[in-house]
Amino acid sequence: MATGLTIALAKGRVLDETLPLLARAGIEPADDLDGSRKLVFATSHADIKLVLIRSADVPTYVQYGAADLGVAGKDVLAEHGGEGLYELVDLKIAPCKMMTAGIADQPKMSRGRLKVATKYPRITRQFFLEQGRQVELIKLYGSMELAPAVGLADIIVDLVDTGNTLKANGLKPLDHIMDISSRLIVNRASLKMKNQAVRELVGKIETAVK
Ligand code: PRP
Repeated sequence: MATGLTIALAKGRVLDETLPLLARAGIEPADDLDGSRKLVFATSHADIKLVLIRSADVPTYVQYGAADLGVAGKDVLAEHGGEGLYELVDLKIAPCKMMTAGIADQPKMSRGRLKVATKYPRITRQFFLEQGRQVELIKLYGSMELAPAVGLADIIVDLVDTGNTLKANGLKPLDHIMDISSRLIVNRASLKMKNQAVRELVGKIETAVK
């Protein structure tokens, strides 16, 4: 039975905090991840390899078993829907909040169909559905903070950390939708078929988080 594990990691900011955590769990990439164009990396652990992909793709790789485990933000997981995978550990990396935000000196529109710009259509639809509000979703891929100022949308749904980006664009935070941090996820079949290897790794990572 195969016991080797593949862990999907996302390029970017979260990676810088994930690597020290993995190192404390005894897993260090054989090459410098930043200085390489490679996407698959061997590690100091003979049975563990890393794949480096876009953050929004991590749940998909894990869902289909192309990676056994992955590190993904709660925002990405909620937007993906979580089919075929489990969240195992809250890594407490990159904590922030998913919020609605609108123009600071304008009251939130209370009637009519609110125009909401976001790169999180699923989370946004669900949030407003629970509120019983009909909204018009405008899908963007980034820089949501610009949308209200140029009249593209009434409000946005985005991640807020320090609040500096909102402030710099004349927006204020409104509703808190969910708390966000990075999570270790596992493919459901891998958890069953490679249970011992997964449990060992999870134990080490949990210790490293503490
Ligand atoms: C995130 C988020 C906000 C900003 C919030 O963007 O989308 O724009 O950080 O942080 P703040 O409250 O501390 O200002 P990020 O820089 O991760 O880039 P992105 O647009 O690619 O998501």
